[in-house]
Amino acid sequence: MTRGPAPRPWRVVVGSDEAGFELKELLAVELRGDARVAEVRDVGVVASQSRDYPHVAVEAARLVAAGEVDRALLVCGTGLGVAIAANKVSGVRAVTAHDSYSVERSVLSNDAQVLCLGQRVIGPELARRLVREWLGYRLDPTSPSGPKVEAICAYEPPGVPEAPRAPH
Ligand code: RB5
Repeated sequence: MTRGPAPRPWRVVVGSDEAGFELKELLAVELRGDARVAEVRDVGVVASQSRDYPHVAVEAARLVAAGEVDRALLVCGTGLGVAIAANKVSGVRAVTAHDSYSVERSVLSNDAQVLCLGQRVIGPELARRLVREWLGYRLDPTSPSGPKVEAICAYEPPGVPEAPRAPH
């Protein structure tokens, strides 16, 4: 078996609105305790802060698009609004996934850099497990999924800088 160099540890940004605050905090602790993660940024909200989910999601997604972080983990009540908002940022592929298979495919099929969870949908232990699994996946751009992700990218409006692609 050939072994390549160890993959670079992840730089991850977390964010939530008030409806996702507790789960975001829990998952930030999970990420900070994981040896595969080099850096965890938090774009809020902080306790008792009110900020609507589109603003948090776009702030985090812009960090991904700029290459300042590799991935974003976003939490709102359902995980839906943050995904819709994050996908407004060019080059960002954000998904809502609350099961193991979808989390796997979001990376290995879609090269999604943003995982969105709903605090009102998923329990904390399953969420922690999914995040651990999520950190283990990296798209192989030479796989049959590579050209499909390229096709998504080709639909981006012209003139907008591309977000970094896997491998990061
Ligand atoms: C609360 O504003 C709730 O609507 C929000 O957290 C999210 O679930 C929206 O998609």
